[in-house]
Amino acid sequence: MLRIFIGCLLVPFFISCSSSQQEGIISNKLNKDSELTLLMRKMYNDADTIKQHIKAGTGTITEEFIKELAYIHNATPSDPKLSNPTFTAFNNLILTEAKTLQTSSENKVEGFNELVNRCIDCHKTFCPGPITRIKKLKIN
Ligand code: HEC
Repeated sequence: MLRIFIGCLLVPFFISCSSSQQEGIISNKLNKDSELTLLMRKMYNDADTIKQHIKAGTGTITEEFIKELAYIHNATPSDPKLSNPTFTAFNNLILTEAKTLQTSSENKVEGFNELVNRCIDCHKTFCPGPITRIKKLKIN
């Protein structure tokens, strides 16, 4: 069911984000990094910390991280075209996944990897550049 839903979202919205690595340093000097880019960088680091806690059995997803996820669709992106209903739908999917992980006492590893899959789902449509990096967050 979820898969079908995601499939429907993958309509022809191939907008590439300005912050893809290929574009490099020059464009970053001209355009200040967007609020969304800065949020994503923080989320990447926080997700890595959560990963370490889950691996060590010392913790799980935090309320702070869920708040960051909930803010994604409010943060100003580098390209105004990124603010649209499809984007918000992907944001809602990752929030649901995060809340599932928060309430689960077992299978935290699987739950965390599913969360990372929801990062990747949105990135496939809106910002493919960082996908290889995001995949490294998964717990093997
Ligand atoms: C709802 C869509 C969406 C979700 C969910 C999402 N991202 Fe992003 N991400 C983006 C967009 C769009 C950008 C580009 C931002 C811009 O150009 O303003 C981005 C940028 C990034 C970047 C690049 C930042 C830089 O330095 O240029 C990283 C890394 C990243 N996201 C990691 C993640 C991780 C990790 C998750 C899951 C915890 C995640 N993203 C979830 C849409 C999303």
